[in-house]
Amino acid sequence: MSHALRPMRAEDAEAVAALSADAGAARWDAEAFRRELLLPHARLRVIEGGASFAVAAFAVWWHVVDEIHLLNIVVAADLRRSGLARALMDSMLDDARSVAARAIELEVRAGNASAIALYVAYGFETLGRRKRYYADGEDALLMEHVLK
Ligand SMILES: CC(C)(COP(=O)(O)OP(=O)(O)OC[C@H]1O[C@@H](n2cnc3c(N)ncnc32)[C@H](O)[C@@H]1OP(=O)(O)O)[C@@H](O)C(=O)NCCC(=O)NCCS
Repeated sequence: MSHALRPMRAEDAEAVAALSADAGAARWDAEAFRRELLLPHARLRVIEGGASFAVAAFAVWWHVVDEIHLLNIVVAADLRRSGLARALMDSMLDDARSVAARAIELEVRAGNASAIALYVAYGFETLGRRKRYYADGEDALLMEHVLK
């Protein structure tokens, strides 16, 4: 199975929304992803080759002033721990360096051990905690990776 990484296209929106919902990150439906594609500051990437969802993984980040904000990164459950998130994180870091960003920031659920382990592996540090940030009452950790 090939795992080509490329920019998201409008025709990916249904598959990406389905993958997002399966991962419990159903903030955006397909229409929301299509709207996101029109924003000049948004970057959306997919990795092709998923068995269940037509895409194996995706990530969305924004470039705002001198910062990158990672909004979401999801890998299909049956393809985790095979380096797909690393490929997306590397692509985001390349983008961050190409625009000379100062830092990458993100919020993550305080109980999301897998995602926190991924970010720590990439040198992110916890800056603070946003109490009851999510609709279900879970706290968010605010994490940052300062680019040298
Ligand atoms: C978090 C997530 C994107 C990681 O994707 P992945 O493709 O499995 O991650 P990778 O295989 O690229 O792992 C890269 C590194 O992250 C860390 N990591 C990832 N998952 C981990 C886990 N379950 N436990 C511990 N460390 C983990 C490890 O350091 C790993 O390196 P290693 O495999 O060499 O040890 C994936 O678990 C996912 O989609 N989760 C659901 C959606 C989600 O919560 N997204 C984050 C929203 S903020």
